Amino acid sequence: FLALTAVSGLAAACRTAGSRPSPPPAVDASVPLPVPPLLHPEPDGDGVRQFELTLQAGRTEILPGLSTPTWGFNGAFLGPTLRAGRGDVVRVTVRNTLPEATSVHWHGMHLPAAMDGGPHQMVEPDAAWTPSWTVRQPAATLWYHPHPHGSTALHVYRGLAGMFILDDGEEHGLPTAYGVDDVPLVLQDKRFAADGSLAGDPLGGFYGILGDRMLANGALNARFDVTTERVRLRILNGANARMFNLAFADGRRFHVVGNDSGLLSAPVEVDRLPLTPGERAEVVVAFAPGERVVLRTLDNGVDLAKGNFDIMSFAAASELAPSPALPAHPADLPPITPPSGARVRTFTLNGRDTINSKQMDMDRIDVVVPAGATEVWEVATGGSSHNFHIHGAAFQVLEVDGAPPAAWAGGYKDTVFVRSRSSARLAVRFGTDTDPARPYMYHCHILRHEDAGMMGQFVVVEPGTESGVPRTLAPGD
Ligand code: C2O
Ligand code: CU
Ligand code: CU
Repeated sequence: FLALTAVSGLAAACRTAGSRPSPPPAVDASVPLPVPPLLHPEPDGDGVRQFELTLQAGRTEILPGLSTPTWGFNGAFLGPTLRAGRGDVVRVTVRNTLPEATSVHWHGMHLPAAMDGGPHQMVEPDAAWTPSWTVRQPAATLWYHPHPHGSTALHVYRGLAGMFILDDGEEHGLPTAYGVDDVPLVLQDKRFAADGSLAGDPLGGFYGILGDRMLANGALNARFDVTTERVRLRILNGANARMFNLAFADGRRFHVVGNDSGLLSAPVEVDRLPLTPGERAEVVVAFAPGERVVLRTLDNGVDLAKGNFDIMSFAAASELAPSPALPAHPADLPPITPPSGARVRTFTLNGRDTINSKQMDMDRIDVVVPAGATEVWEVATGGSSHNFHIHGAAFQVLEVDGAPPAAWAGGYKDTVFVRSRSSARLAVRFGTDTDPARPYMYHCHILRHEDAGMMGQFVVVEPGTESGVPRTLAPGD
């Protein structure tokens, strides 16, 4: 009944407070940007990096003087940054002290489906779950969040999200001092009721929540104190629905050096950067001594990017420590190239709840993929915008509406925006962990759509065994 209380509480708050604007932030009331604690445990006697994540409820002062009920990992709101490297064996002890069941999914991680933390790996209240896997992928900025079918939007909105940084021992030439010149930025939009509680219904409306308050690492009106000539930002769109169309108030240009699942082969200079929920980008921004500049999101006409909002500011010290030059080749990842005759599959996202006219069914396997395959997945939309995420795989965008993608989106990704009446062709490379009975998910990462059923399931199996794989899971599996 607690879950129901939480949902109806939010909905009620939305109805009573929806028309009342949240109070504007006071001028110059900026707070230092909170930097999530970094967890990078030394390997234990068995060579395992052991992480502990406790899901808990608490309260957070987000609006000055008001206390907001929130959820977090190892704290009241959001979660620590986990860090591991290629070749590491990691184990995470996930403890659920929340009043309802949830799950913790490692978004972007290539691991066995049993460890993926999707809707089949629920963690009951007062229970623990200890997935373990070996990291076998390039350096990237991943993240983790709940994935309980039907409640992901609410659980993420209340604050359950954190970053997972992967290193690979290669020389990338980028800043690496965590929280100093290598800075995680979890961007989210929220709505608040007059008493400070979160408002808005994550399952209401067509897209769910589009907030009117922009948070960086959980803080409103945050200020990052820049001490170096260049800063690497690892940006995560952790919103329920909003597209952040990022720009600096002075229009300065910056360089994109990484996408969701890896670094780019060359930096791409931009003055705008659209990111939809679930997507990440790594960027490098140059600062001059003593300057102050605001990071904003700008309305670009897409229904998910409504409104212009300031997010946070950067305040550079009067003297800045030297930074490495922008690297010419942050990484050298081989292109993901479909073989001739590659399997082509089509996914049409319609309304707010179907893919290929079907809603998610936890017991139905929609797609069977041979291990290690590279396939072409075509994602098409109807009259509304969506984005498409695939678990346990990396892809490159081959084409959007028949044209190559923007250069800044040319790297390894796991989530892609597809605007209304468009299509994207993806070259998807699947993993090699097989399990015919445990599915991975693909879905729209607008959480309201995901919860409503815009999600499907695929299994990865030994090549040659596809036709014998059962398409129905035993209920309750
Ligand atoms: Cu970020 Cu299926 O999730
Ligand atoms: Cu995922
Ligand atoms: Cu959608």
